Amino acid sequence: MTHQEYFDKLTDSIDTLSDILDTEHYGMCLVDKDGYIIKWYYEKFFNIKASAAVGRHVTEVIENTRLHVVAQTGVKELMQLQKINGSMVITNRIPLIHNHEVIGAAGTIIFRDIKEIAHLHSRMSKLEDNFKAYRSEIAKMYAAQYHFDDIITNNQKMLNLKHLGQTIARSDASVLIQGESGTGKELFAQAIHNASLVSHQPFVSLNCSSIPKELLEAELFGYESGAFTGARKDGKIGKFELAGEGTLFLDELGTMPMDMQVKLLRVLESKEYVPLGSNKKVPFKARVIAATNENLSNSMQNGSFRSDLYYRLNVININIPPLRERIEDLPVLCSSMLSQKEGLYHQSRLHMSQEAMDLLNLHNWPGNVRELRNVIDRAAIICEGSEILPQHLPEYIQVYRNSSPLEISDGYYHYEIACLERQLITKALRDNGGNRQAAARQLGIHRSLLYKKMKDLGIHE
Ligand SMILES: Nc1ncnc2c1ncn2[C@@H]1O[C@H](COP(=O)(O)OP(=O)(O)OP(=O)(O)O)[C@@H](O)[C@H]1O
Ligand SMILES: [Mg+2]
Repeated sequence: MTHQEYFDKLTDSIDTLSDILDTEHYGMCLVDKDGYIIKWYYEKFFNIKASAAVGRHVTEVIENTRLHVVAQTGVKELMQLQKINGSMVITNRIPLIHNHEVIGAAGTIIFRDIKEIAHLHSRMSKLEDNFKAYRSEIAKMYAAQYHFDDIITNNQKMLNLKHLGQTIARSDASVLIQGESGTGKELFAQAIHNASLVSHQPFVSLNCSSIPKELLEAELFGYESGAFTGARKDGKIGKFELAGEGTLFLDELGTMPMDMQVKLLRVLESKEYVPLGSNKKVPFKARVIAATNENLSNSMQNGSFRSDLYYRLNVININIPPLRERIEDLPVLCSSMLSQKEGLYHQSRLHMSQEAMDLLNLHNWPGNVRELRNVIDRAAIICEGSEILPQHLPEYIQVYRNSSPLEISDGYYHYEIACLERQLITKALRDNGGNRQAAARQLGIHRSLLYKKMKDLGIHE
């Protein structure tokens, strides 16, 4: 192709483009190597007809132009200020190169008046303000409710964990919270967020087990409109984006499918992600707190959990003991829960009777504090006076009283002793993982006596 053919082709293409581009407002001009105008799309802007411009040297038509210089040097000049008709415009000057040779230059006006930039800037800052307002609305919608003061405990291990949580809250380190169901994992996660430097940012939680495997990725990454069949028309904001610079709480992490584990790890390492159906990388700035009630060491051993993700998340580990291992928490938990009921159904302050407390002490609490809360809520509703009595407790807790052959009819003294014995034996069995020989040794009684006591007291562990 000769230079001329190249020019012809180029101007043909520009003719087509000019129908699409807003030439009315901005326009364009092409000059040859010597600076003579060959194409003129500036009729409106300069109020000069193409017939009057084409063929003339560009310096005769455009004030302060440098297009002829660029056509010589081949060095492009972008975003240059140029004074035309008394106003400052911003222009781009781009050399046209064919077969490694500069054969001309194209000039375009990006902003007709520098004032346009000020206008654009003010529109941008308005948008930015709106964006900030939406962000703060999101933060309000996704606020964490609990604080460290809401974690009620008298147990030394728990107090240490609370202290650890408070200390690390202000860092951005990932946290892994482990513990049985109902031990207060979410409580800790929220408390950490609220004590962090980003407490005014959103706390967004995602329960990995409640989302079908195929949808989990869309839920986390979000997608652009029309990203896949069945996707919502207007796209979807993912949890990564919602969390912004706040906290992303990944609950039931142990159930996360393997392929998602890989993807999550990649996001945590690279600190960026790509929404589904998009080609733009988006920075990921949120802090991640994960929780699980599964034993991840076992999951890693049987290959259902990736160890690299485990170590990435387990920067800070909070392992919450089950309620049965901190049975001394029962009284404070009960009294705090009962005080929350005050004024709800009862005028006067509710409290636990000793008998009811003894029964709670004997229970194993597989559902931990959540189970206790249900028991207390129920008791507060059905209790008519101000004292929670054994009959206000659910059947399955009342049986501890009935299963003992030492009934109350035997006398209060015997009943109390039996309760105490049962507590001691239950605790010793628990401490020794159900091993009766070890429990007997700890209690300082013979194994056969332990067996007898267990039978008499209705202990089936
Ligand atoms: N130490 C505590 N003090 C006061 N309330 C607590 C405590 N621990 C747990 N709770 C209460 O117990 C209930 C369960 O807590 P949470 O939802 O945090 O448990 P979880 O460990 O996340 O359970 P799951 O594994 O089933 O999701 C909540 O109502 C919470 O307020
Ligand atoms: Mg939970």
